[in-house]
Amino acid sequence: MNFTIKTAALQNITTSCMILGVYQNKALPEVTAEVNKLTHRALGNIIEAGDISGTLGQTLLIHNPEGVRAKRLLLVGLGKKGELDLKKFIKIINSVAQGLKKYALGDALDTLINLPVKNAGSEKCGQMIAQILQNSVYRYTQTKSKKGSKPELKKVDVYLVDKTQRSKLRKALDIGSAVASGMALTREMGNLPGNICTPTFLGEQAQLLAKRNKGLKTKVLSEAQMRRLGMGSLLSVGNGSDENSALIIMEYNGTSEKTKPNVIVGKGITFDTGGISLKPGAGMDEMKFDMCGAASVLGTMAALCALKPRINVIGVIASAENMPSGRATKPGDIVTSMSGQTIEVLNTDAEGRLVLCDALTYVERYKPKSVIDIATLTGAVIVALGSVVSGVMSNNDELADKLYQTGLDVNDPVWRLPIWDEYQSQLDSNFADIANIGGPKAGSITAACFLSRFAKKYPWAHLDIAGTAWLQGKEKGATGRPVPLLVEYLLNN
Ligand code: BES
Ligand code: MN
Ligand code: ZN
Repeated sequence: MNFTIKTAALQNITTSCMILGVYQNKALPEVTAEVNKLTHRALGNIIEAGDISGTLGQTLLIHNPEGVRAKRLLLVGLGKKGELDLKKFIKIINSVAQGLKKYALGDALDTLINLPVKNAGSEKCGQMIAQILQNSVYRYTQTKSKKGSKPELKKVDVYLVDKTQRSKLRKALDIGSAVASGMALTREMGNLPGNICTPTFLGEQAQLLAKRNKGLKTKVLSEAQMRRLGMGSLLSVGNGSDENSALIIMEYNGTSEKTKPNVIVGKGITFDTGGISLKPGAGMDEMKFDMCGAASVLGTMAALCALKPRINVIGVIASAENMPSGRATKPGDIVTSMSGQTIEVLNTDAEGRLVLCDALTYVERYKPKSVIDIATLTGAVIVALGSVVSGVMSNNDELADKLYQTGLDVNDPVWRLPIWDEYQSQLDSNFADIANIGGPKAGSITAACFLSRFAKKYPWAHLDIAGTAWLQGKEKGATGRPVPLLVEYLLNN
């Protein structure tokens, strides 16, 4: 999607649709008041008539307004004057996105950037406009024989009053747009079925990204290479599958300075049947989404490639298919991880932690500034937090706080759960150093406690995105979360 900044006089800007805010209680923001004058107070009349009351997110489309070169005006409710904050602003942009979609408009002029928003300047608002509007036109068509018509909205102009903000806004729009492109890749990978999106396929996608972007290097470790590294835990997950497991490593080098990299590690189970601890049949198709953590790593690396920031970031994907078979890992089997710790696999459905732990050991070689793993790890996190926030668990308060604040900033929130020592004993095993499950209580926390045993050498955070990575029901599909959070964190740290 194309975003352009406009600073010409309002009445001279041509557009299919000008987007204007309206407060509750008939108050008009400056830009809307100006347009009201240009249109001989048509807006005032419409509001006086009560056609739009200005409650948050309400929309109204007006055709052929006089006095401006806009074919339409899309009015959107802003809620009470003086109460607008970033969260409300994001709701408003989501309504605008729906409105533009409903009327199949090809271009629009957004004036909302000029609104006073309590905890955000025009930069952050611009970033959200680009991210949300561009993300709203994503559609999945790859495996449909009839692709339908392409989404209409291709061009968004942003009307800026304070011209001194121009270059800052330009950067913000570019970030928002790059994040949305990354989200689109993440959503596409997530939505592809397990028979197409295999570990090998994910490796090929990472290679393709490196081929298209000079700053990125990709290598894919084969099963034989992983065996030589001693990754007995990761390899045990793919034992029952005919698909080869893979460890995919993407190195983004944006600066020649020898700064320590931040590392992101994604769970890439391309289908999770549960293995011998087989899952129930109902809804099992959704376990094609069990590689959404991996997909978010791909999407984040793609966004970085577009933005070319001067930072160093390593993206790692631990990928396997979890299947039952005569060669599959069985409950009670003991495997040896790359760290040397032995693991009793009491439940083959707790496989995400088994692939991640070896990846966490592998990345020690980068002496990372921080490591964040991203995983659809537990059903328990959906019980605890639903689909609103992702769970974050960390061995470092500063890192956890940063992720919390960043999540709020970019509409991709996370909430921390404790991984206190008191929980660790739930992982005791009579036959190995550690068991891979911790019983029915606090399932998300014990999963993170398991990972923490392999993440002692660096500041580490674990994002459990089982509730936020995809939607169910009519809107079933991958969401692209937490790409906004990851990109923002990496750009600022
Ligand atoms: N991929 C699942 C977690 C999951 C379940 C995500 C449902 C989204 C929806 C994970 O591999 C898994 O099966 N976890 C088990 C762990 C248990 C066996 C300790 C779970 O959550 O039931
Ligand atoms: Mn599982
Ligand atoms: Zn899984």
